[in-house]
Amino acid sequence: MTDTVAENSKPFLTDVKTLRERARKNIAEGAMTWTYKGDPKHTVEILQSVLATEIVCVLRYTMHAVTATGILSDSVKAEFAKHAKEEQAHMMAVAERITQLGGEPNFDPEGLASRSASQYSTGPSLGL
Ligand SMILES: [Fe+2]
Repeated sequence: MTDTVAENSKPFLTDVKTLRERARKNIAEGAMTWTYKGDPKHTVEILQSVLATEIVCVLRYTMHAVTATGILSDSVKAEFAKHAKEEQAHMMAVAERITQLGGEPNFDPEGLASRSASQYSTGPSLGL
């Protein structure tokens, strides 16, 4: 009991050496630290579907940015191009996370549509 009281009475950041050692150990472990409670293999499977979805979104928004027509087409094209860029950033983040978890991001166009939760749609008009 005396030891507990003595430990609890220490200021919060007294043991800098221990904190630094822990930080170095965590950095060496990479993205998979001892605090990670997930199943990396299952997480990678889910993220592969997320990756496919982001890729399809990049393609769809890019297509709309290129093909939008009508009186407002310049602003519409710019908006779709902005969304395509955002989706590309999502795609990169997901791919990075898959790599961190020990997987290999699946960028294979074969089967992309079936892996994706979103649909690629084409059409002559966006109703604009
Ligand atoms: Fe996204």
